[in-house]
Amino acid sequence: MHSENWWRSAVIYQVYIRSFADGDGDGLGDIAGLRSRLGHIASLGVDAIWINPWYPSPMADAGYDVIDYRDVEPRFGTLADAEALVTEAHEHGLRVLLDIVPNHTSDRHPWFAEALATGPASAARERYMFRPGRGESGELAPNDWVSTFGGPAWTRVVEPDGQPGEWYLHLFAPEQPDVNWEHADVRGDFADTLRFWFDRGVDGFRIDVAHSLIKEPGLPDVGDLVYPRKYVEVDGEFVLPPWSPHPHWDRDEVHEVYREWRAIADSYSPPRVFVAEAWVDEPERLSHYLRPDELHTAFNFGYLVAPWSGPEMRKTIDETLAEHGTVGAPPTWVLSNHDVVRHLSRYARAEQIPGRHRLRELLDMPYDLAVGERRARAALLLTLGLPGGAYVYQGEELGLPEVEDLPDEVLQDPTWERSGHTDRGRDGCRVPIPWSGDAPPYGFTTAATTWLPQPEDWAPLTVATESGDPASMLELYRQALHLRRATKELGDGPMAWRTEAGEDVLAFDRGEGFACVVNTGSTPVPLPAGATVLLASGDLTADGGLPGDTAVWLKP
Ligand code: GLC
Repeated sequence: MHSENWWRSAVIYQVYIRSFADGDGDGLGDIAGLRSRLGHIASLGVDAIWINPWYPSPMADAGYDVIDYRDVEPRFGTLADAEALVTEAHEHGLRVLLDIVPNHTSDRHPWFAEALATGPASAARERYMFRPGRGESGELAPNDWVSTFGGPAWTRVVEPDGQPGEWYLHLFAPEQPDVNWEHADVRGDFADTLRFWFDRGVDGFRIDVAHSLIKEPGLPDVGDLVYPRKYVEVDGEFVLPPWSPHPHWDRDEVHEVYREWRAIADSYSPPRVFVAEAWVDEPERLSHYLRPDELHTAFNFGYLVAPWSGPEMRKTIDETLAEHGTVGAPPTWVLSNHDVVRHLSRYARAEQIPGRHRLRELLDMPYDLAVGERRARAALLLTLGLPGGAYVYQGEELGLPEVEDLPDEVLQDPTWERSGHTDRGRDGCRVPIPWSGDAPPYGFTTAATTWLPQPEDWAPLTVATESGDPASMLELYRQALHLRRATKELGDGPMAWRTEAGEDVLAFDRGEGFACVVNTGSTPVPLPAGATVLLASGDLTADGGLPGDTAVWLKP
């Protein structure tokens, strides 16, 4: 725990603060709620928490539209509450990572207000990506870029003289204008923000869309380039088209920024750490972010989007280990977060297709949650058995499924509006956590309602119900995390595949004293002779075999 290299093996629990616990009775999670529930997180046996943005924000994108990077949103608490949280988390043995959002600010950020007020060609506009439009009177967007949330990535402003004028770039919602990373003010201000929180004892940052900051000079059209790439079926196999450079994702110049940030993190004692949210689907490209003088870790989205399939998972694990190995960085295994369909619901689908992680890609596919739950249990042992670190997204330890039937009128993700009501977006994985009781709000708040409604059938999934029930998902998480912590072979280090078991079976050794076997198929397989079962994700067969959708940790 005290080692400077803690991050190489860490399990980090993601706190989606709006939905974790409400301390002030307004139906929205906050710092007071989180402080009161730190015991739950510590009892799981994780090493750190990552907290989604808690800064002042109009919440056009759930806090990823920041007005002031060095303060706290009043609905979440105060700066003093934040400082107390950091201290208390440390007392619980938990390190704290915050979420920094460097690609864009809120459109209510003072810089943007100034840019709008001062008009075209002003110095204040240089901090953002303003451009004149195309067409005779500038009525067409400067290029063909599209927003991640749907629609064009450009919005035209009304100039101080009341006339339609320039356009500004927003790779996300119009309320999230992209900043100009060629500008010294931008670089300087984000460096100050890092120091501000590091000075307050924060142990590191998750970097939001870390691969987006730099844009190709001249802002050329993207044409028909798709990013991240989409799997295509060729002769019954799913493959990615070849990688090619993109005008605004994963530009080489972004690495300069991270070298600067690494130097700042290294100037602290103990050194602070970073994890990149970089949806870079080419493992070799991702490894560039992890060079020794850049970021420490990056979420492994290749693993996240892999379907429940032995060959597909083995492929992504091998690619990950090979590419991380070239730069000496530990992988981080992640199954769910606040942007994707919860993995229990993805694995529940009758058909398992690589790359599908959005609700719009899964909604029409038949599913069985009991199957999803078995697979999610097995996936936990796989995830925690692999070399490196891992992430747990709040609620997965309770076996929460995606809420796929939220009524239209409660949806808040900007994707819903921006897609013209064709994409329901990410709210289904953001529903407040059930803590106790038989009915909503399940102890989440003292208010009558929560910011997103909770399902009526979550009573069996509360922390209180699952605690002490040996068959529950929660107790499996607790056991696995504690055992992982006590097992010296786990975390960072080598692994070696066992190949005798067939393509549906993922079996590997971690040193001499530990092995993991995962059966992703449907036929039971025998376990290695003479091994002792340390932990199993489900019952073994009567003759000691490993059934389908089941995993074990073994002492060989
Ligand atoms: C990241 C966040 C996501 C947010 C987006 C824009 O992908 O995880 O929630 O909408 O960035 O900031």
